[in-house]
Amino acid sequence: MWQAHTIIHNGQAMPFAEARLHPLSVAVAYGVAVFEGLRAYRNPADGSFSVFRLDEHLARLQQGMKVMRFDAPPTTPVLHAAVREVVRLNAPDEDAYIRVQTQLEALGTLASTGPVGWIAAALPRERSAKFASGLAAGVSSWTRIADNAMPPRIKASANYHASRLANLQAKADGYDTALLLTARGKVSEAASACVFLLRDGVLVTPGKTSDILESVTRDTVLVLAAEAGLVVEQRDVDRTELYVAEEVFVCGTGQELVAITSVDRLPVGDGRPGPVTRQLQAAYEAVVRGTTTAHPEWRTPVR
Ligand SMILES: Cc1ncc(COP(=O)(O)O)c(C=O)c1O
Repeated sequence: MWQAHTIIHNGQAMPFAEARLHPLSVAVAYGVAVFEGLRAYRNPADGSFSVFRLDEHLARLQQGMKVMRFDAPPTTPVLHAAVREVVRLNAPDEDAYIRVQTQLEALGTLASTGPVGWIAAALPRERSAKFASGLAAGVSSWTRIADNAMPPRIKASANYHASRLANLQAKADGYDTALLLTARGKVSEAASACVFLLRDGVLVTPGKTSDILESVTRDTVLVLAAEAGLVVEQRDVDRTELYVAEEVFVCGTGQELVAITSVDRLPVGDGRPGPVTRQLQAAYEAVVRGTTTAHPEWRTPVR
């Protein structure tokens, strides 16, 4: 597998292993950083790479920096060019996972708003081993972070402390992944992915005020599902709806689209990935990789 050998730090391409921050920088001391995880997919026909929904990811990053009150953040055109450049420089021969991150790089206080530094990195990342067979999920006893405490709408690095605790608990309890409930006891999302369920043939996902990250993949699935003629609802979801759903799946840039085949050890449907999940998984695969001509606006070529 290819290796990441070059990272772009504050506009400079440098050896991956040489990127540095001070341990007392505000980014390290208080976790003041915002990031995006993206993927560059390889088209099997011509070997070209394209970054999936780059514009939407960078728009969310700008929103995150606004909420964090970052001073003089890097502009979208600068980051857009850096993402394409870091993929090109690392010359992957398989799909790449891309991280764009902005952080407070100097020493400071909790009230610091700059100076803002940034990186763009491209890393190898294999598809989940359970992509085809599905995941066993457990509903976590950790509660999803709330908008009035640590807004989950922004992809702040510190938010992942909560996801990490839920994931560690899930692994300790023998599950593949965790599903989290909001403080109101409604289904929110997985530790790093959004959740969908099929109930009476209707595709349902928690709404944007269910303390979710406003996921790019969730939006993609909503579009693909509507195009496939499915009825889609965004609404509050109860925990026990997960137990009685015909199908459940999670989706996100990192996880892509993967079936949940059991929740709290109760099988979902017949305990295997269902037909709607498989149909959407195939549609997602085609649109990210460019083996369909649909939605060219979602794929930014890397030249
Ligand atoms: C907490 C959380 N929810 C949802 C998602 C999915 O978001 P996206 O589809 O934009 O990658 C992620 C992705 O990393 C995430 O970390």
